[in-house]
Amino acid sequence: MPDPERIWIIGASDGIGAALARRWAGAGARLILSARSEDALRALAAALGPEHQVLRVDVADRASLDAAARVIASRGPLDRIIHMAALYDPGSVAALDPESAMRIVAVNLMGSFHVAQVAPPLLREGGQLAFCGSVAGYFGLPQGQIYSATKAGVMNLAQSLRAELSGRIDVRLISPGFVDTRLTRRNDFRMPAMVTPEVAARAIVTGLDRRMFEIHFPRRLTSFVKLLSILPYWASLPLTARLVR
Ligand SMILES: NC(=O)c1ccc[n+]([C@@H]2O[C@H](COP(=O)([O-])OP(=O)(O)OC[C@H]3O[C@@H](n4cnc5c(N)ncnc54)[C@H](OP(=O)(O)O)[C@@H]3O)[C@@H](O)[C@H]2O)c1
Repeated sequence: MPDPERIWIIGASDGIGAALARRWAGAGARLILSARSEDALRALAAALGPEHQVLRVDVADRASLDAAARVIASRGPLDRIIHMAALYDPGSVAALDPESAMRIVAVNLMGSFHVAQVAPPLLREGGQLAFCGSVAGYFGLPQGQIYSATKAGVMNLAQSLRAELSGRIDVRLISPGFVDTRLTRRNDFRMPAMVTPEVAARAIVTGLDRRMFEIHFPRRLTSFVKLLSILPYWASLPLTARLVR
């Protein structure tokens, strides 16, 4: 029998990350579960089994990532690192609190940058490193800043890293549409083609086992926004202006 996969999920305490943990644990993987909420991580690990490990991490704090990396490195190479951690605070640009915006940049963009530096040495040759973008990063829609800008940055970062680590590490980009988690529960608008975290986890696990750089779902939403992003501005911007209430 092959050794079980060793997977580090960052942002595993809730939402899509927790659903990924349940799915991979069910498939026999050995997980390292990270986020800031240690109690939630311990409850998840207890439900999944004693072979899984909890390491508290704040991705905005480089020292906490470095400390986790030292523990992980001492136990041998990983097969995959899946970085799902992010913050979201919906609203128009004018209504955004600058402190909250700074925190979102620190967690979503700088956190991804820290992971991009810390993760590669922890992976076996050919191991997988996945970042989480969003359909919100494809095009600047109303009500989505500064989260959407950070997600566009994460997409760009993953593209650069894919080239820089080509042949050594399998860098991937996950681009979900709307998923029913605490993150989207803050939205007060209708969210088309919403899926459950379990459906999202199935799409991600299936996609990561295939060869495409980007795993995006549900296609009925992501394909539409992708189309918007390749239209000339004279066609796309009047469409998005109509979304402003
Ligand atoms: N839900 C959607 O519709 C949707 C759509 C597109 C993309 N996404 C992306 O999917 C990913 C997961 O989102 P979700 O919907 O599952 O949200 P969620 O339920 O809020 O989960 C986010 C996870 O990130 C962790 N986290 C937040 N800040 C962190 C930090 N500083 N350090 C470490 N961990 C941190 C949270 O745990 P703690 O609070 O315990 O730290 C939690 O485990 C995110 O990257 C999000 O941008 C979601």
